[in-house]
Amino acid sequence: MNRYRLSTSRLIYFLLALLFLLAISDVYAAKMSVTEFISEFTRNHYQQRFIAQTDLVKNNRELVPQAVDRLIGETKQGDKSFEDRMYLLNIASSMAYMQRHLHGDGEPLAKVDPLIKEEMRKEKERNAELMKWKKEEQFLGNFVMKRHAKELKQAGLAPVLYPHWKHRLLFECKVCHNSIFRMQRWINEISQEKIVAGEQCGTCHNGNIAFSANDREQCGRCHIAGKPEAEKLHNPDLIDHTEVKKAAERVGAQWHPEKLVNGRLPVDRFGLIDWMVMKQNDVFRPITSLEKGFKEETRDNKILFVSRSNFVNNVLFDHKVHSDWISCSACHPAIFSDELGGNDMKMRDMSKGLYCGHCHGKVSFKFADCKRCHSLPADARVDALVRPTRH
Ligand code: HEC
Ligand code: HEC
Ligand code: HEC
Ligand code: HEC
Ligand code: HEC
Ligand code: HEC
Repeated sequence: MNRYRLSTSRLIYFLLALLFLLAISDVYAAKMSVTEFISEFTRNHYQQRFIAQTDLVKNNRELVPQAVDRLIGETKQGDKSFEDRMYLLNIASSMAYMQRHLHGDGEPLAKVDPLIKEEMRKEKERNAELMKWKKEEQFLGNFVMKRHAKELKQAGLAPVLYPHWKHRLLFECKVCHNSIFRMQRWINEISQEKIVAGEQCGTCHNGNIAFSANDREQCGRCHIAGKPEAEKLHNPDLIDHTEVKKAAERVGAQWHPEKLVNGRLPVDRFGLIDWMVMKQNDVFRPITSLEKGFKEETRDNKILFVSRSNFVNNVLFDHKVHSDWISCSACHPAIFSDELGGNDMKMRDMSKGLYCGHCHGKVSFKFADCKRCHSLPADARVDALVRPTRH
């Protein structure tokens, strides 16, 4: 009897406890916060647990509109990328679809849908804009400059197309790097104000060395990116030899188009100017500096990179070829430490723009031309400094 009573009271306790648990779990479910709802839904969304997501929306009809609003609000906070915004909108959209399907409430969806369409439209526009400038820059060393895109638009001017090659015909790299421009895109903060004050492009584009940047008639010669007239800046066949010759005479350089076959600039198999052939055939003699009495420094040796791969030839680096054009300080120490074997160069890093990739693929011939660097078979004899091999 005693035992029976005891177990009855135990049963009652047990039932009470169960009821209590049920009660609080009910309260708990109803009291799920919007934040909790969003994080639960997101977790299930990315684990593709469709049934769990459906259950969440089924049981939380009143939370969905708030959750959707909160997610939309978040897309507008801070400096979010397209991917970040789409991540949030995709979750909101999937909630909103279920809300309409399960509860017949189409309001949240009516908010999210147009936002997604707008994001996609803007992204397409951005890509088209990027592709447009990519095309302009396909000719190696042509840079579209549009840091001041807003001001340019206001002034009704096209962005600037800076053609390295037009300048290389007359000037060695040393003329500009690093005395006028540091050898890195965007960091020189080039502006019209500085140019007109005689700095940057204005060091030359002042009406003496080259056409003036302060002359209303000439604005369009630089502000030309995206226009049909820009073709003469990426098609070397359209070169005007008389014009180049005049400019060369003006700056003290030499231009010998008579040494070209059919007057055409030599090109490599990518259609890009082959500067080594131009140099060997003495077609051009660019100047070294704008300063009188400039003391040129070159280093006359070759460095052999013994390849760590059996599949490619060794690489021969000619210090003379490079230091004829480029000043020591443009490479040392910014790009390479000047210690034999002091730089651990890998192709992977180079294709990201480090080491040889600082110039090759941007202003000098492309990496796709493997053999121009990997030119020496392992058994070839050559008079060069041999780098200690790294593994
Ligand atoms: C007439 C001046 C001038 C000459 C000559 C010149 N450059 Fe440049 N170079 C520039 C300008 C301008 C920039 C862009 C700077 C900026 O955007 O802030 C630049 C940028 C570069 C960059 C940076 C590319 C990048 O993606 O960051 C490299 C590399 C470069 N030049 C290499 C050379 C080499 C090599 C030569 C010689 C063969 C040369 N330049 C000759 C004006 C010149
Ligand atoms: C070291 C002197 C020098 C510097 C610095 C320089 N240029 Fe030039 N640039 C010239 C010379 C010389 C020409 C040949 C122009 C001529 O025929 O009058 C030229 C030609 C051009 C051309 C070709 C125009 C055409 O119609 O063929 C463009 C575009 C140009 N420069 C833009 C720029 C821009 C942009 C900058 C600055 C980022 C710049 N240049 C810096 C000297 C320079
Ligand atoms: C030698 C080339 C050259 C010539 C010629 C030239 N510009 Fe520019 N201009 C530039 C460069 C380079 C920039 C910087 C582009 C950028 O990255 O936003 C620039 C920028 C500008 C800007 C943007 C605002 C700013 O402060 O940079 C305006 C406006 C402008 N130029 C107006 C003119 C006008 C007007 C003329 C003719 C009187 C002219 N430019 C001629 C090279 C040139
Ligand atoms: C195009 C870039 C470039 C230019 C310009 C350049 N160097 Fe170098 N230099 C290199 C590379 C690459 C190495 C090899 C580094 C290694 O082995 O890791 C090197 C190595 C050296 C070394 C050690 C090997 C040797 O030759 O004794 C010295 C010293 C040196 N450079 C001095 C100079 C001087 C002085 C100048 C200017 C006259 C100059 N370099 C111009 C890229 C350059
Ligand atoms: C600062 C810019 C710069 C860097 C960095 C650079 N180069 Fe060059 N290189 C040039 C220029 C300019 C030329 C001339 C040809 C051209 O512009 O297409 C050239 C030409 C060459 C040539 C052809 C010359 C010849 O001997 O026939 C080879 C090979 C070469 N580079 C290899 C290298 C290797 C390997 C490295 C890295 C260790 C390197 N370069 C780093 C600018 C550079
Ligand atoms: C501008 C010069 C240059 C060009 C062009 C070039 N390489 Fe290299 N490559 C180098 C240098 C320098 C090294 C470093 C040498 C070493 O220590 O092994 C290297 C190393 C390598 C290595 C050794 C392993 C590694 O990843 O570093 C392989 C493999 C290689 N290159 C493949 C290629 C192929 C394939 C191409 C053409 C698509 C190519 N390279 C074009 C300069 C160049």
